[in-house]
Amino acid sequence: MAAAAGGAAEKRRIMCVGLVCLDIISVVETFPAEDSDTRCLSQRWQRGGNASNSCTVLALLGAPCAFMGSLAPGPAADFIAADFQRRGVDTAHVAWQPRGEVPCACCLVNARSGSRTIVLHDTNLPDVTARDFERVDLSQYKWIHFEARNAAEQGAMLERVERHNRAAAPERRVRISVELEKPREELLPLMGRGHVVFISKDLARHFGYQSAPEALQGLRGRIQPGATLICAWAEEGADAMGPDGQLVHSDAFPPETLVDTLGAGDTFNAAVIFALAEGRSLQDALTFGCRIAGRKCGIQGFDGIV
Ligand code: ADP
Ligand code: FRU
Repeated sequence: MAAAAGGAAEKRRIMCVGLVCLDIISVVETFPAEDSDTRCLSQRWQRGGNASNSCTVLALLGAPCAFMGSLAPGPAADFIAADFQRRGVDTAHVAWQPRGEVPCACCLVNARSGSRTIVLHDTNLPDVTARDFERVDLSQYKWIHFEARNAAEQGAMLERVERHNRAAAPERRVRISVELEKPREELLPLMGRGHVVFISKDLARHFGYQSAPEALQGLRGRIQPGATLICAWAEEGADAMGPDGQLVHSDAFPPETLVDTLGAGDTFNAAVIFALAEGRSLQDALTFGCRIAGRKCGIQGFDGIV
């Protein structure tokens, strides 16, 4: 009986809630000057957005996963939906909006340095709501990752998962992670909600911290007791503070040539979630996250990270 319950639990999926957008990527040989007119080396459309990229990586790692976010019908959404399908990401909980435009980003990837410069248009497409989230059957998920965006609605979604967890047997609980990337005041309370909280270098710098360990020490008071705080820092790798307050670190795994860092952070987050969801230690998960993110930086896009 216990074995059967364990088997069923293993089939539970990972869901990522957040942004999906269209990335129109131009790979350039050198970064263009303002008001210049140049040619790029290559150009492609790619499904983007943090939560959406993390789903791509989870799928490539072999984890059954689902994306929840908004789309509006049209050619961009057709491309995006086909790409989710190609990757085997479940989109049953995409909220199709009758109004608004699918967010779109113009991205310049510098082939010489791997740097990515993003200009995102994300204005009028309504985000998924707590009401949309009520339709999610929580028993099907072992982990739900939230990319912090619409704080009030996401707060209510988190409340629902927390309520579910209070009533559920330990092996049926849903682990919660939250990513805070943008230093927007209204998003900060969400740091107090996840079992695992990812903060970006941007957010850390916004608070005046110059390194990941410094940020973890300074911001640990904002997470809930027993939670884990994680901060990635590009070529310096990543640091984390587990429930016991111990700091762990992984160096980065730089590829031979840095070609494309677009989505490196999303790759790192997904790989860490994947490893933790498998029951691996925080140190192992951090190292795995840096290893997979490092591979990603050495290739264009995501094919070949595994
Ligand atoms: P993003 O800016 O995309 O959110 P980060 O810069 O925080 O992502 O990097 C996430 C992870 O990706 C890092 O922890 C590291 O493992 C890897 N990474 C990113 N940039 C580099 C780099 N230049 N060299 C090696 N690894 C990198
Ligand atoms: C990468 C990314 C891109 C997208 C942008 C949105 O992390 O998700 O795919 O254009 O960030 O902020």
